[in-house]
Amino acid sequence: MSDSKSIVEKARAAGIALPAFNIPYLPMMASVVRALKDTGAFALIQVARLEWEKFESKSLEAIAEEYARLKDERYMRLHLDHVPVLDEDDRTVDYLPIIRRALAAGYASVMVDGSRLPFADNVAATRRVLELAHAAGVPVEAELGAVLGHEAGPLPPYEELFASGKGFTEPADAERFVAETGVDWLSVSIGNIHGAIAGAARSQKKPEARLDLERLSAIARQSGVPIVLHGGTGIKPDNLREGMKRGIAKINIGTATRAPYEAAIKDGTDADAAVYAATIAEIDSLGLRGSARRLGQGV
Ligand code: 13P
Repeated sequence: MSDSKSIVEKARAAGIALPAFNIPYLPMMASVVRALKDTGAFALIQVARLEWEKFESKSLEAIAEEYARLKDERYMRLHLDHVPVLDEDDRTVDYLPIIRRALAAGYASVMVDGSRLPFADNVAATRRVLELAHAAGVPVEAELGAVLGHEAGPLPPYEELFASGKGFTEPADAERFVAETGVDWLSVSIGNIHGAIAGAARSQKKPEARLDLERLSAIARQSGVPIVLHGGTGIKPDNLREGMKRGIAKINIGTATRAPYEAAIKDGTDADAAVYAATIAEIDSLGLRGSARRLGQGV
């Protein structure tokens, strides 16, 4: 099995997380890599299907090539984020060929997102991906519950959403999902939302989110696997730090670095510096400077 699995488990045991930085524009990767080396933080570099379809990461192979050129594996590994079975536009995706391409391109871990499917269909899709990926020694992340925000159309006001608990993951379901799939890491919905990517909302400020920490503890305890938090941008920092103690071992961060990159490109200012500074700000707000050493990595 690729050591991404043991590194995430070590983070879980230490009560810290690996930030997972999305790369929606290929030129962003160099600045993220530099920020990791300069802070000694250990992270995942990741790309989601929607980032090569709707942004400018080009393809999962292009990201893997750029990663091979820039990587310093004392501080990072490569991960494939969201390969949906049913995507944010309600289109069915031929997901297995995408997973096969990622395994061929050298991704050290992959995600299959069956969260828009009924429970049994999500289990079945996740098991198909696990069979392929585990045969190649690659751990798998799956999602249970609805982390909203990527779909077109407005979200209800955040506090309304939180109070309704709409789409939140049930601890008993998480336990059953892990037992029935054997998935390595589980992405859950506990108050987190994705930064918007559709239309005009793409460039608006993401609302601040918070986490249902009791629910998180129950999910972590009952599922027994490291928990993944999507929508890591703009969550109350105290909640994130407490969340890591309670079982969150991977935190996906997209909007926090994408928005400054897009703003810099638009304004003709230094986009590399903007991404570098934003990456360091995220690492610092999570208290993860020097985390590579705590994970037995780094120098
Ligand atoms: P944010 O863009 O809200 O940080 O979410 C990123 C993410 O979860 C990618 O999978």
